[in-house]
Amino acid sequence: MSSETIAIASDHGGFELKNELKQVLSDLGFAILDLGADSMESVDYPDFGYAVAGALKQGLATRGVLVCGSGIGISIAANRHPVIRAALIHDALGAKLSRLHNDANVIVFGGRMIGPDLAKDCLRVFLETEFEGGRHARRVDKLSNPE
Ligand code: RB5
Repeated sequence: MSSETIAIASDHGGFELKNELKQVLSDLGFAILDLGADSMESVDYPDFGYAVAGALKQGLATRGVLVCGSGIGISIAANRHPVIRAALIHDALGAKLSRLHNDANVIVFGGRMIGPDLAKDCLRVFLETEFEGGRHARRVDKLSNPE
């Protein structure tokens, strides 16, 4: 059982996959902060990328999961916040490297791009892989200071 809270959100294009991914989080014992969307009704992906970014900034969750149709728009939205390192993931190796090298704190999927079983595998890998630190820590630090 983990004491970690994971924030999760999607637009309509990611709504179905979001619900599948919530089951993985629940099975692994994470607390879930679901920030919407709540239906397949058309909404604007930046609102949901910003919602997860805000939850991490406020300390309401330690990591996040985002899904839109392609994964692209919601990644751009989340990554506008310097404390967010959102990684758009298509395979398990990418999920692993996003943690090992980038200390990614948000995993992103395209609900119209990836099958649910692969996305669930990627999410498990993301949650179970620790940041490697070392030479990568200096680079990750620079991501928080773009100026
Ligand atoms: C919504 O139709 C779609 O544009 C959105 O989910 C996402 O793919 C944007 O990047």
